[in-house]
Amino acid sequence: MKIAVIGGDGTGPEVVAEGLKVLHAVSQKVGFEYTTQDFNVSGDRYLDAGGDPDAPSIPVITDEEIDQLRAFDAIYLGAVGHPKVAPGILEKGLLLGLRFALDQYINLRPVKLYPHVPCPLADKSPEDVDFVVVRENTEGLYTGMGGVQYKNTPNEVATQIMCNTRSGVERAIRYAFELCRRRNDKKLCTLVGKNNVLTYAHDLWYRAFMEIGQEYDDIQKDYNHVDACCMWFVKNPEYYDTIVVCNMFGDIITDLGAMIQGGMGVAAGGNINPSGVSMFEPIGGSAPKYTGQNVINPVAAMAAMAMLLRETGNNRGDEKLQQAGRRVEDAIMSVTPKMDSQSAGRMGHSCTEVGDLVAEAVANAN
Ligand code: IPM
Ligand code: MN
Repeated sequence: MKIAVIGGDGTGPEVVAEGLKVLHAVSQKVGFEYTTQDFNVSGDRYLDAGGDPDAPSIPVITDEEIDQLRAFDAIYLGAVGHPKVAPGILEKGLLLGLRFALDQYINLRPVKLYPHVPCPLADKSPEDVDFVVVRENTEGLYTGMGGVQYKNTPNEVATQIMCNTRSGVERAIRYAFELCRRRNDKKLCTLVGKNNVLTYAHDLWYRAFMEIGQEYDDIQKDYNHVDACCMWFVKNPEYYDTIVVCNMFGDIITDLGAMIQGGMGVAAGGNINPSGVSMFEPIGGSAPKYTGQNVINPVAAMAAMAMLLRETGNNRGDEKLQQAGRRVEDAIMSVTPKMDSQSAGRMGHSCTEVGDLVAEAVANAN
């Protein structure tokens, strides 16, 4: 397996190092080979190369680099975001750039509360918070369609078009049904949208969901409006199994999801192209103020590594890699009870110590 590594900005390289530590441990345990190659793509490089900190001026990642990435089995990303670069430049240039260029049309975000991780919801435990969000990742409000007229006048008009293609919606829905079938016995797939207001865009989603759903007799089809979904995340998270949702709403509800699973230090995501190159990342930011202090939480990055292994294994039908992914996740779940907190600087351990504990747990498992 060939893995491209983009440590990126801030604490990204620190958490990525712990994920790679655990990868090494599990490769020894299970017996598979891999290589890694670092890509120096970051806010610092953008600035060093003369990039304008206030407006996108040069590519954050070049076309040549993107072409090189196509030759890898997976990409492991730390974080993007630099205090000296205006928000959006790096995020759009790198994260959105790669999602679109590599057609990573699924953003897979498990919402899973690990053992002994404090949950802000009263009386909820790991059995109650364990579902997965399948966020469409290349369409919706993210295509950049739209424009502005009469800028800086009282008559200014700005539009941002929500672009939904039948084929784009279908592939996300199909992915969700297939995942739901593999996941557990609950077999409940919930479409989250707003078809009472988005009567064109989300009507398309609803019809596609119900039509494709007929091919999945074993799965219960369910629909929630996005506002009600936010309410249920807090009140009844145990209700959910697999959620499929458009890009923008998926972005929003997965931050809420990250909070109910214990915070940004824990939440991992995968930008997935099932027949191409996928990219896995902790979804918290680059945390500039904690950079270089060895206090950041690497759990999300290690969970992203578990996902990288599991998903790459699943796409290739490689049982060893899938097992490796499960082993890393099990090891994480054996270590979270030993941590005082999931917040940076309050874990009772340094970042590298948490990585060591998980790597040891992998090595010592049966
Ligand atoms: C995410 C982020 C990105 C998004 C930003 C940084 C462009 O919030 O991965 O959820 O909106 O998709
Ligand atoms: Mn987001």
